[in-house]
Amino acid sequence: MDSKNTILTGDRPTGPLHIGHYVGSLKKRVELQDKYRQYVLIADMQALTDNAGNPKKVRDNVLEVALDYLAVGLDPAKSTLVVQSLVPELTELTMYYLNIVTLARLKRNPTVKDEMQQKGFGEDVPAGFLTYPVSQAADITGFKARYVPVGADQLPMLEQTNEIVDKFNSLYGREVLQRCEPLLSEVTRLPGTDGLGKMGKSTNNAVFLKDPEKTLRDKIKLMYTDPLHLKVSDPGHVEGNTVFAYLDAFDPDKGTIAELKRNYEKGGLGDVKLKDRLFEALNRELAPIRARRQEFEKDPTEILSMLRKGSLLAREAASKTLTEVREALLLFGY
Ligand code: TRP
Repeated sequence: MDSKNTILTGDRPTGPLHIGHYVGSLKKRVELQDKYRQYVLIADMQALTDNAGNPKKVRDNVLEVALDYLAVGLDPAKSTLVVQSLVPELTELTMYYLNIVTLARLKRNPTVKDEMQQKGFGEDVPAGFLTYPVSQAADITGFKARYVPVGADQLPMLEQTNEIVDKFNSLYGREVLQRCEPLLSEVTRLPGTDGLGKMGKSTNNAVFLKDPEKTLRDKIKLMYTDPLHLKVSDPGHVEGNTVFAYLDAFDPDKGTIAELKRNYEKGGLGDVKLKDRLFEALNRELAPIRARRQEFEKDPTEILSMLRKGSLLAREAASKTLTEVREALLLFGY
């Protein structure tokens, strides 16, 4: 055993990953893989909790997400890439945890509440969806992850995980499960290209990592700026302007950006010029990612075999935790 701390991160495979994922978490994961033992989970079972009628979408996106991971530089020699459904130990853990979580507590999870509202679920919410935070607790504790890099929306999941950990350990009188801590990402979420709320996989307002150069250009052309900035000579608004939000995230020349903001607010700086600059900055970052993705896309069988290998390693880790949990629960051995 080495002394590296363990990190767990993950995504639901419901669509290809976008530049919001990239600045919010993927870049960070590429750094973290050098310092930690990192598991990156493609949470296909969690994706099924609200896609029961569309398993093909989930299956296809497992591969899409894996390609995005490899394209941004996650290295299977450093990070363990895992497909959740290939690790049945996590599902067994979920069943035991469900007994120490109440329905009332599940209904109080603010992230789940928001999602239920967005998706129009009422009392007829799929039980699997309402309970997915418990399955996420199994993911985190199954690998004994100490740190979970997340955005603010995932904090309720970690809180609920730690409640399960404390309850389990106190009920069964041992320190079997380990508490986790968030590694909060400092980058604020990127807005969507339409300027309406955050970028989403399925809201038609995302710039995907795999978008070809032409698509990137077209999306930037249509991007929301300032509806009151009609003529180049008009003073424009920087606040709430998507192009500036992206320039802040992707253009390293902060001095020039500050100057452009001043000129925009004064009037006389046109959107087209700004958008050209944004295209250059984004394309500089995305071109090598796109190129690497195209290389990996040539051999999907190889990707699948890498995922199977990672998932096997993950099973080894999770089955250790499961054995300890079964012992604490006084269950008979297999
Ligand atoms: N809930 C996360 C999301 O929607 C995905 C996820 C599943 C996850 N299991 C996890 C994240 C474990 C961190 C740790 O993006």
